Amino acid sequence: MLQIKRAGHSTLTTPDIERMIDYFTRIVGLSLAAREKNRAILATKSGLEAIVLERGGAVDAPRLSLQVAPGSDLGELTSRLKTAGLKSERRTDITPGIGEAVTFADPKGTTIEIFSDFKFAPEDNTFTGVMPIKFGHIAYQCPDVKGMVKFYCDVLGFRVSDWRSDFFAFLRCSRDHHTVNFLHNEKTAIHHIAFEVRDWSDIKRACDMLAKNDIKLTWGPIRHIIGHNIAIYHKNPDGVVIEFFTDLDQMHDEELGFFEPRPWHQDRPQKPKVWGDDTPSNWWGPMSHGSPQHAQALAQPAAAPVHHGLQAAPRKPALAEARAKQTQKKSRGKTKPRR
Ligand SMILES: [Fe+2]
Repeated sequence: MLQIKRAGHSTLTTPDIERMIDYFTRIVGLSLAAREKNRAILATKSGLEAIVLERGGAVDAPRLSLQVAPGSDLGELTSRLKTAGLKSERRTDITPGIGEAVTFADPKGTTIEIFSDFKFAPEDNTFTGVMPIKFGHIAYQCPDVKGMVKFYCDVLGFRVSDWRSDFFAFLRCSRDHHTVNFLHNEKTAIHHIAFEVRDWSDIKRACDMLAKNDIKLTWGPIRHIIGHNIAIYHKNPDGVVIEFFTDLDQMHDEELGFFEPRPWHQDRPQKPKVWGDDTPSNWWGPMSHGSPQHAQALAQPAAAPVHHGLQAAPRKPALAEARAKQTQKKSRGKTKPRR
């Protein structure tokens, strides 16, 4: 088994690379660390590579880079992957920051680029856009969520932080509650990409920044229940859902096994668990516990946007309708406490 320490960057293909460079530099606030004819490397202002854009016909996220401990012997990692039955390749010049990597395909077809040593991009002291502190997580839709979780845990050393029922998994490779998500859907696709910002005031600044550029939030600000991050969502010019978040649950000590206690946690201690199918998506507003909007959302057909709290497809329409009726009935009576 490998031991992943953090996510590096996600590679995105786009039909309009100039438009996406403009979006990621001017709106998201990443720096253009390198530009080639058909490729651009974008880093945070402090020099962590976060996104690689490639000119391509379709919008996709074909590759994800993941870092193991600096100084690790990539040859030895290749042998370990071979023992696990995986065919891998050594590649060089991945990005200006990643000189060498071992690459292989995960079961849903994403190319994983494992690197051990990383060179920061030059610091950029200009102020543009939201300016996230790091690439936070990536969520994928795929048909075999359990298979993906097993692969990421058994081969890459991820740990399961939480499940929503049996269709949405949150996996960590560091203190952060999740660095990858897998959400059930028959079609494999990118679900959303998330960037961490420093604090709540940066979420507020991001809201203003997006509004000023006529980009509407598609959801939020909210505080999630699973992971407890404060989050806002919008769509980038390619239609990919982008999240900015802060205040994500932290597992400071794997042996203690609980997330650092917070006043808004449901359980004391808050340990990894399977959350019920009917766990509200968030705490604060629409679609929070017991609201008519939540009931409505649960009863929505598949066309509704899929977020942490919503089912991907009308898997159990009868159940959703029953819940909607139940919630409407309750809302006519006393207000129910959240937990
Ligand atoms: Fe997210």
